[in-house]
Amino acid sequence: MSEMVYLNGEFVPLEEARIPVLDRGFIFGDGIYEVVPVYSRKPFRMAEHLQRLQNSLDGIRLANPLSDSAWIKLMHDIIAKNDGDDQSIYLQVTRGVAKRDHAFPKNVKQTVFMMSSPLTTPPREQIENGMPAITANDFRWLKCDVKSTALLGNCLLRQLAVDAGAIETILFRDGKLTEASASNVFVVKNGVLLAPPKNNLVLPGITYDVVLEIAQAREFEVEVREISEAETRNADEIWVTSSTKEVLAITTLDGKPVGDGKPGMLFRRMHALYQEFKRDIMRVK
Ligand code: PDD
Repeated sequence: MSEMVYLNGEFVPLEEARIPVLDRGFIFGDGIYEVVPVYSRKPFRMAEHLQRLQNSLDGIRLANPLSDSAWIKLMHDIIAKNDGDDQSIYLQVTRGVAKRDHAFPKNVKQTVFMMSSPLTTPPREQIENGMPAITANDFRWLKCDVKSTALLGNCLLRQLAVDAGAIETILFRDGKLTEASASNVFVVKNGVLLAPPKNNLVLPGITYDVVLEIAQAREFEVEVREISEAETRNADEIWVTSSTKEVLAITTLDGKPVGDGKPGMLFRRMHALYQEFKRDIMRVK
C-alpha cells in the first residue's frame, strides 16, 4: 500500500502531495509540528499532544485550523489508511502561502499536513546496552518550548552526534542541562531521579511527563530542578526520552562511562514500568 498523507483537506499518496514554493513553512520555517506515537492503532496521549499543539500555535500567534475533534478524526483516518499497528504520526501547520514578507500575511489559510510512518522504537540491543551521547553548547533560540518546524539548530546539533557515532547531543546552556537535540534528558544521582524544569529552554516532552508520572506513582525519589553541567557529568545514570526513543539509557558521555557504563538499575525499572504503562493504557482505550 502506498503511504497516504493528508494535505489541506485531501488524502493523497505521499509522492503526489505538493506544496507551493511560497509556503511560509518552506520560506521561513514558519510553522509548528507534532509527533504522536501510535500503539496498536491507538494514538498515545492524544489529549496532551493536542494541548501542546495548541500551545505551539499560540506561541507563534497562529490560529488553530481544526477543532480537537477534527484533529482526532483526521488522526484516526490517517492511521486507518496506513499499514502497521504501531505508527508515528507527524503533523504540521504552517502560516500558509503568501508573497515573501517577514510580517504575517492577512487572510491566508494555514497549510495542514499529516503523514504516518512505521514507529521504530529502540532495538533490544540499545535498551540492554545503552547508547553513547556527546555534549554541546545549546545555541538554539529562547523559545524551545514551541515545537517549531524551524529546526536548523536541532539539526546541526543532532548531526554532531551522528558524526561522533553517538545517538544524541546533550545540551548545556549557561552551565545548566537543558535537553538533547531531539529528546528530553533525565539524570540519576545517589538514587534520586533529577529532571530539568519545564521552561522556555526545553520542549515540554509528552514522554517526559509520562516518565515523571510513573516515577511519582511508584515512589521514586524525584527532584525537578536545575541540573548543572558538573552534576550531569558526574551522574550515576543519564536517560533520554522521546515519543520514538521512549526511555533510553546513555552509557557514555563524550567517550567517558556514565556510572559503571551500563544501563542503571533505575533505568531498567523505569523501562519496564513504561512498557507496562503503555500496555495498560492501550488495553482500556
Ligand atoms: N522530538 N525535546 C526535543 C528538542 C524534541 O525534538 C523532542 C521530540 C523531545 C521529546 O518530546 P516527546 O516526548 O513529546 O516526543 C524533547 C520528536 C520526536 C521529533 O522531532 O521527531
